[in-house]
Amino acid sequence: MEEKVDRGLIRGIEEFSAIPSIALNTMGLLNNPAITIKEIINQIKLDVALVAFILKNCNSFLFGLKQEVKSIEQAVSLLGFLRLKSILMSYFARNLYKMSGASEIKNILWKHSVAVAAFSQVIAPFFKISEDESYLCGLLHDIGKLVLLDFNEYGFKSIYEDNFNPYSIIIEKEKEFFGTSHTFVGFTLLDNWKFPKIFIDVVYLHHNYQDFKDLGYLQCVILANLMVYKYLDGIDLDLSKHLKGINIKEEQLDDIFQKGLENFNALKTVL
Ligand SMILES: [Fe+2]
Ligand SMILES: [Fe+2]
Repeated sequence: MEEKVDRGLIRGIEEFSAIPSIALNTMGLLNNPAITIKEIINQIKLDVALVAFILKNCNSFLFGLKQEVKSIEQAVSLLGFLRLKSILMSYFARNLYKMSGASEIKNILWKHSVAVAAFSQVIAPFFKISEDESYLCGLLHDIGKLVLLDFNEYGFKSIYEDNFNPYSIIIEKEKEFFGTSHTFVGFTLLDNWKFPKIFIDVVYLHHNYQDFKDLGYLQCVILANLMVYKYLDGIDLDLSKHLKGINIKEEQLDDIFQKGLENFNALKTVL
């Protein structure tokens, strides 16, 4: 753990880490090669809201299934493990943002995460990486902010209230106030939850723009994050320097934005 981190905040991270979740347990089951589909289905059925969420996602045009899916058995067999994992993770992330009472700021954070997820999914093919995983990296990238917000809402708001330049100073400001940053807190959480390394790297490094140019998922989420700030939030940012070494030309950005926006609007109907 980094220095100067408030004890209360460390407890906050531990409390978040201990969140019991059927979705998280089911994701763990999916990693066990000895597990049967019946066991997975039984686990999912423990959470009625999760069953409804899976069916809703399955029947949305996002998955492009030709027939209407009416049972969880049918859904699991049609989706396959990877897509099921992706839906479980979306459900898990959504619940984290909605738990312990809705608030305007949590809604803003959730909306931002869904937007970055939508844009990451659209950008992924340029990096030749998985669209599903990119989407999930986008959805989770700012998860550490939730812990900081829960720990000290006043402090969190005071850092984020002025429409900041999202990349230059925010990590510094967080370190000054909390003794740590949302990237480090998010990294610790995902590590405690034993998430795959790709996600941990993206969460930890997504405000670091100089290094790690070889990590496609990281570059993808960084660009998606910047596009959301520029195109959706209207922050004046020059993206050209972030396109260096990436197979995307500046004139393609408008088209990517349109596709990202469509994807964002579609995701909002199921998440
Ligand atoms: Fe961030
Ligand atoms: Fe972000």
